[in-house]
Amino acid sequence: MLDRIERIRDEGRAAIAAAADAAAVEEARVRYLGRKAELTTILRGIGELPAAERGPVGKAGNEVRRELEGLVEEAAARHERSELDRRLAAEAIDVTLPGTPPVRLGHLHPLTRTRREIEDIFIGLGYRIAEGPEVEHDYYNFTALNHPPGHPARMLQDTFYVDPASLGDGVELYGSDGAPLTAPPGPRDVLLRTHTSPMQVRAMEDAEPPIFIIVPGRVYRRDSDATHTPMFSQVEGLAVGDGITLADLHGTLLTFARAVFGEERDVRIRPHFFPFTEPSVEVDVSCFRCGGSGELDRERCGLCKGTGWLEILGAGMVDPNVFGFVRDRGYDPDHVQGFAFGMGIERIAMLKHGVPDLRMFFENDVRMLEQFR
Ligand code: PHE
Repeated sequence: MLDRIERIRDEGRAAIAAAADAAAVEEARVRYLGRKAELTTILRGIGELPAAERGPVGKAGNEVRRELEGLVEEAAARHERSELDRRLAAEAIDVTLPGTPPVRLGHLHPLTRTRREIEDIFIGLGYRIAEGPEVEHDYYNFTALNHPPGHPARMLQDTFYVDPASLGDGVELYGSDGAPLTAPPGPRDVLLRTHTSPMQVRAMEDAEPPIFIIVPGRVYRRDSDATHTPMFSQVEGLAVGDGITLADLHGTLLTFARAVFGEERDVRIRPHFFPFTEPSVEVDVSCFRCGGSGELDRERCGLCKGTGWLEILGAGMVDPNVFGFVRDRGYDPDHVQGFAFGMGIERIAMLKHGVPDLRMFFENDVRMLEQFR
């Protein structure tokens, strides 16, 4: 009997050691330690053995049983671990890889990108962003900006007027003198703003000096050709405070021009006229294609047309007459001064990216837009 137990031990050890996976280990367990296993039968039958054999057979049988149990447990754990490792390796997902979206991701419109770039530059200079209504009163668009009655920009063929009846009830309207309208509004009291400059007056009504704001937004004019669309976008700038001069305007716009068009750029200002600035100027940046020489490969530079300069915006010192409309908000024309400027976002984007036709920004042709990823 003891020989049988020894044989079972040897066979059991060998079978467990040879088991190639967890299933084979389980098979060996059933075979050598299961309810119907030889060893189990021997141990169960001990009572029927002659008294002298019971002790040694029981001892040896239980020892072998414990040993094989231990080996099974160890082998099962080993196989489980390596099987888990294998599965982890085979099913591994690299969660740090970028996803693969089923459609190509979109991107910002080139005009949005240009607007944000301009905003970032002026935020860096300490300006804050203000926005105003696109449907505007004649008062803010013209009168308070020193456009005298009869100014040609107020003519029906220059400006889009809005039928006041279409605005609904409860909208308070002002006449061209800034006073609330007593009579029903006339056909020329409400319009689509022709520039972002009305926000100069609105912003000064809202806050005392010093004031440093930029105003991005859509504006409307009755123009339509390769460089003019009935709707386009501007960024207005207004800086009012103690002792602000034309030199500050020049320095500010130089910083701006270099940030957008490159560190080597220069800026020049030329006399001009706007009703709401005095003096008024137009601002040019040196051509970034030819470096300002006007010549490219011995030929006339096509971008600046040989002049070496590109016009980028209109500007000037805020006219004292404009301050006169907000005198009671702390803008005494005899004491405060400041500058204002206004630029077309499309124009900046066209220059920067060499876009030949302004209308391309609004046609939404993906072949054009995809170049601005
Ligand atoms: N509003 C002017 C325009 O649209 C630009 C401008 C803004 C000029 C501020 C001077 C000062 O042409």
